[in-house]
Amino acid sequence: MKKLIDMIAEDVREAFSACGYDEKFGMVTLSNRPDLCQYQCNGAMAAAKQYKVAPIEIAKAVVEQLSESDTIAEVSAVMPGFINMKVDEEFLAAYLQEMTEQENYGFEKTKKPLTIILDYGGPNVAKPLHIGHLRSAVIGESIKRICRFVGHKVIGDVHLGDLGLQMGLVIEGLRERAPELPYFDESFTGEYPKEPPFTLAELEEIYPAASALSKQNEEFKERAQRTTLRFQQGDRAYCALWRHIMNVSVPDLKRNYENLNVTFDLWKGESDVQPYIPDMVADLISRGLAHESQGAMVVDVQEDGDTKEIPPCIVQKSDGAALYATSDLATILEREKLYAPNRYIYLADKRQEMHFTQVFRTARKAGFVDPETELTFLGFGTMNGKDGKPFKTRDGGVMRLEQLIADTNEEVKKKMSENREISEEEAGQIAKTIGLAAIKYGDLSNQATKDYIFDLERFTSFEGNTGPYILYTMVRIKSILAKYYAEDKEGKAVSINASVRKYGADELALMLLTARFNDMIEHAYEEIAPHKVCQYIYELADAFNSFYHNNKIIAETDSVKQGEWISLITLVLHLLEVCIDLLGFSAPDRM
Ligand code: ARG
Repeated sequence: MKKLIDMIAEDVREAFSACGYDEKFGMVTLSNRPDLCQYQCNGAMAAAKQYKVAPIEIAKAVVEQLSESDTIAEVSAVMPGFINMKVDEEFLAAYLQEMTEQENYGFEKTKKPLTIILDYGGPNVAKPLHIGHLRSAVIGESIKRICRFVGHKVIGDVHLGDLGLQMGLVIEGLRERAPELPYFDESFTGEYPKEPPFTLAELEEIYPAASALSKQNEEFKERAQRTTLRFQQGDRAYCALWRHIMNVSVPDLKRNYENLNVTFDLWKGESDVQPYIPDMVADLISRGLAHESQGAMVVDVQEDGDTKEIPPCIVQKSDGAALYATSDLATILEREKLYAPNRYIYLADKRQEMHFTQVFRTARKAGFVDPETELTFLGFGTMNGKDGKPFKTRDGGVMRLEQLIADTNEEVKKKMSENREISEEEAGQIAKTIGLAAIKYGDLSNQATKDYIFDLERFTSFEGNTGPYILYTMVRIKSILAKYYAEDKEGKAVSINASVRKYGADELALMLLTARFNDMIEHAYEEIAPHKVCQYIYELADAFNSFYHNNKIIAETDSVKQGEWISLITLVLHLLEVCIDLLGFSAPDRM
């Protein structure tokens, strides 16, 4: 379906043209004075300059023309030349009715589906999943769903950090704890054990301890670096240890992501592209793209017109080791070979912006991607605590994701009504559903690039701009529908436009917002902005609640009107369902 605003603008453009003015002046926007009108066109002012006619004269002529329009009802010319409009209510009701009948509620999928690689999650193996990785997973999952809804093919890749220095640290950390293991015996030629030499809990202790040690002990740090390099070069013992680390770590990561309702199509990592690296670096050197600088191999990426310094992209360290940028470049080579995407979207902390600029420029310069391939980096801000500093546990440690989820669910449970009739078990299930909505909505309702404050109290509130408020609204609609249909109303044909009548202000506001669904989706995709979905459902939930408070839906005696209301709120519920699914959470049936 066309967007409502475009249908209105079409009529306005035609009217400009019928009056002898260029139709380009007929652009329409949502009114910034909703008390006066719903839509406005300010084109008469611009047209006045070109045609040397008073703007109000142009506006009046256009208004006259528009009196014929089926889409626009009240239209007036206001000094100095504004054109104020309201949508024709019959047309609006028919538009909404059509939405209910169309696939995807009138949102038309793209005619040019792209293959998009979405690189998100990005956990580092052997380190416990902490809240720093929460944002990447939550935002990425939502972007994946939005892109798919629009009709694109999205391949979500978790892109594990499984190659870097943390591997050398874990291996050396383990050597400190258990030097007797065969992996550390240079003369060992037998087969390494099948069982990992550590449990998940032990592994989670090893990394932080080793990382701390490397900060105090230069010798240890250098050893870890050498080990990392040897591992990258395929050392048999270290590769065997690496496999144990992966086998212990990855299932735990999967479980954590499952709890967040986040899923990936690919569980690839930096290590998968190792084989590409030697040839890639040699190729960059032979083509004169990479040159030596202080022993390292670098690609210059500074461009004319840069306002700040963009340091060269280091593709090989002086000791021959690969770096973060090297593996990202090699990953592009592999993705090109396997998936030939039209677009790449990367999610990572916004402090990684320079890294991605360097990688993207190198990839373009080297022709690793086609010039039309879009490379997008979406850098997100930090999740802070109430003190405005990066979120920590009460004792100042790094908060584990599992703990955050548990704390949130606990808080939600406290807020659920005390005298509930449901079992403890069901209450726990519902609290989980609401808790996830609280965390995800709390994150996604902020523009991704901004930092935000994780406020457990506010995020779990059933009122205000929160996930639980949205769910509460949905549960309310579900319960109205259940009551309505319980009264044997089944089989009664209802449609939003069953009668012609003047709508109440709350009803009309709800109808107008409902009609903006396809418009909102388009913007959320174009701007890769899940917060647009949040904004929309918050307004929609608010509009529904005002309507609900001012009208007695179940007690309404005019059955035609009541049927229209039921159809409208059913559509509202369905749109809310689609939207929360795009955000990556769901609603309970009661709460
Ligand atoms: N593992 C990285 C980190 O924890 C994020 C990976 C982002 N993706 C990428 N292709 N570099 O910071």
